[in-house]
Amino acid sequence: MALSVTKSESGEHLHSTFASRYVRSPVPKFRMPENSMPKEAAYQVINDELMLDGNPRLNLASFVTTWMEPECDKLMMDSINKNYVDMDEYPVTTELQNRCVNMIAHLFNAPVGDDEAAVGVGTVGSSEAIMLAGLAFKRKWQQKRKAQGKPYDKPNIVTGANVQVCWEKFARYFEVELKEVKLEEGYYVMDPVKAVEMVDENTICVAAILGSTLTGEFEDVKLLNELLTKKNEETGWDTPIHVDAASGGFIAPFLYPDLEWDFRLRLVKSINVSGHKYGLVYAGVGWVVWRTKDDLPDELVFHINYLGSDQPTFTLNFSKGSSQIIAQYYQFIRLGFEGYKDIISNCVENARVLREGLEKTGRFNIVSKEIGVPLVAFSLKDSSKHTVFEVAENLRRFGWIVPAYTMPANAEHVAVLRVVVREDFSRGLAERLVTNIMQVLKEIDSLPSRISTKAAHVTAATGETPEGEHDGKLHKKSVRETEEEITQYWRRFAEARRAGAC
Ligand SMILES: Cc1ncc(COP(=O)(O)O)c(C=O)c1O
Repeated sequence: MALSVTKSESGEHLHSTFASRYVRSPVPKFRMPENSMPKEAAYQVINDELMLDGNPRLNLASFVTTWMEPECDKLMMDSINKNYVDMDEYPVTTELQNRCVNMIAHLFNAPVGDDEAAVGVGTVGSSEAIMLAGLAFKRKWQQKRKAQGKPYDKPNIVTGANVQVCWEKFARYFEVELKEVKLEEGYYVMDPVKAVEMVDENTICVAAILGSTLTGEFEDVKLLNELLTKKNEETGWDTPIHVDAASGGFIAPFLYPDLEWDFRLRLVKSINVSGHKYGLVYAGVGWVVWRTKDDLPDELVFHINYLGSDQPTFTLNFSKGSSQIIAQYYQFIRLGFEGYKDIISNCVENARVLREGLEKTGRFNIVSKEIGVPLVAFSLKDSSKHTVFEVAENLRRFGWIVPAYTMPANAEHVAVLRVVVREDFSRGLAERLVTNIMQVLKEIDSLPSRISTKAAHVTAATGETPEGEHDGKLHKKSVRETEEEITQYWRRFAEARRAGAC
């Protein structure tokens, strides 16, 4: 409780915010209030409402960093008032960004010399990075088609159906068709063979994911590169590859240095990575790096000079904070390769503890792979009585935020829970989570199944009966069909409440 001197209605001076009218007046929601309020009261009102947010450290839905060292917090706070775009005014901040780009480019094996500047830019996150990379591909493809006198109005990108929503945004905002390779039960990443089959002369790039959002699995970029090289040779096209390494970009170089997924593969022209995921910085930083200068069309780079010297910019937004860039540089020099490797290895180890704990319950199928982003995605072996959505809902009571979701097309009938293991999710927490999951299972086992009620809801919503009528004959629905219905019901329920997991 903040102690303060505030003026009451009677004109007396009170020494407590909670004795003031501000804590009993309605909180302004639609219009800016007519009058000011004391800073202590404004702080208290907002702080108290924010207490109802989830605890970020227990938010296992997100890849995004929730803990940093106090020294870095200090650097971030000290630079909170610096607009990153004022490069002439804050040249050191710009220099730190460039150093980060160089370090990332080397980490991803870009063909740049030791003293050569790499081509890339800091962004607000992987989404902005992907928009920029996508625009570069689109523009390059258009230039080529124009030069060949061919139509250039129907660009497409080939991806797996497991892509993160930012790819769908890119496609819609920038008018590029997204051609998605469908998934299937048991195979939740893009199949490179099917992807290359879908490539045509209008394909501006194939986007592979290093660390699928849904299961953490790495897509086989090497095989994709081989198959696409062959197709390019046969057709005379030169379809490139983008790697969305939002999560995996700061995993693979440390844990699987021999895995070829990056600029070692000739067709990989650009890579994005989220600094705020396993780059270990708080939300608000991503990176995109191009293989060479030639892969970023000049006409997309704007040059401004009104802030001082000539400044090339290629970002969607103009102004943004500097803190995250500075924090990224802090993490790179503070941790070094060794530190990142140790932290990521710990994450993998704690993911193993969690996975084995879940396997021991005998109730779950593990859907994620051991090699990939350290997360555990798991489905219920038997969801005929209770579903993963109920498990997620009940875990909230303990404070855990664990998302439950259904897979994309064509594996929509599979519903999973996913726990992202971050730096600050230590072994003690992993063991406690397993204990709490077992408690939840025990509790829901003792409750009557909510599924009959759900099936009734499905019936009301769709007009179908659990025993559907086909060709005038009664058709008893299979377990899978019933499970699909239940999953659909819960999906609608969960979607209505979902804030969106990244
Ligand atoms: C594979 C993948 N790509 C892109 C994104 C979007 O990243 P950001 O939140 O940094 O914009 C995510 C987010 O989780 C992701 O998992």
